[in-house]
Amino acid sequence: MSDDPYYYEPALGHGLPHDPFNAIIGPRPIGWISSQDAQGRLNLAPYSFFNAFNYTPPIIGFASVGRKDSLNNIEATGEFAWNLVTRPLAEAMNQSCAAVAPEVDEFELSSLTPAASRRIAVPRVAQSPVSFECKVTQILQLQGVDQVKVPTWLILGEVVAVHIARHLLKEGIYDTAAAEPVLRGGGPADYFQPGPESLFRMWRPSMN
Ligand SMILES: Cc1cc2nc3c(=O)[nH]c(=O)nc-3n(C[C@H](O)[C@H](O)[C@H](O)COP(=O)(O)O)c2cc1C
Repeated sequence: MSDDPYYYEPALGHGLPHDPFNAIIGPRPIGWISSQDAQGRLNLAPYSFFNAFNYTPPIIGFASVGRKDSLNNIEATGEFAWNLVTRPLAEAMNQSCAAVAPEVDEFELSSLTPAASRRIAVPRVAQSPVSFECKVTQILQLQGVDQVKVPTWLILGEVVAVHIARHLLKEGIYDTAAAEPVLRGGGPADYFQPGPESLFRMWRPSMN
């Protein structure tokens, strides 16, 4: 095997059996996004082009690759909720990604219960131990280096309310591994669940 790194330019194709992009930028947290349309019809879908982008105010965002129901709903109402996907909820999360008509309620499809939010009209997933209520701050259509717009939208929202199941707070400290979060890997079906054994600590270099 050659010591040279495998090299490709995405615009020309990766030349591999599977595009490695998602497997390299992974495992990724999942934005399990609940939203509703102007008539109050509920929607729930997972998005792994998802992350946190700011502390104060807390801002999270996800990318809709193509114009999907969540994007349409959030444009219409300006609100969404984020729900943590845990190992016991993994199959329900997977169910909720089914490409169904906008009027189909993925809460029902996935046997999940909507729980009332406090600062937004969109409900949370009752079974999820952590949820954020969010109000949209920006919706950006992405573009390539050629400045040509692509049919992908980055939806950013400020977290205006947070719900955390009490058992995940150990002496007030949020216990990430205890929540059994599910992360997305590459390929069509790979997921990860980080456990306590994968934790290590490293402090930043001191500035003095
Ligand atoms: C784990 C997982 C991650 C996903 N991530 C994304 C994503 O980041 N962006 C996207 O557009 N679709 C993503 N999808 C596909 C959407 O969930 C799917 O298209 C869904 O039907 C969209 O629902 P909606 O039309 O109700 O918004 C993902 C699916 C799964 C199972």
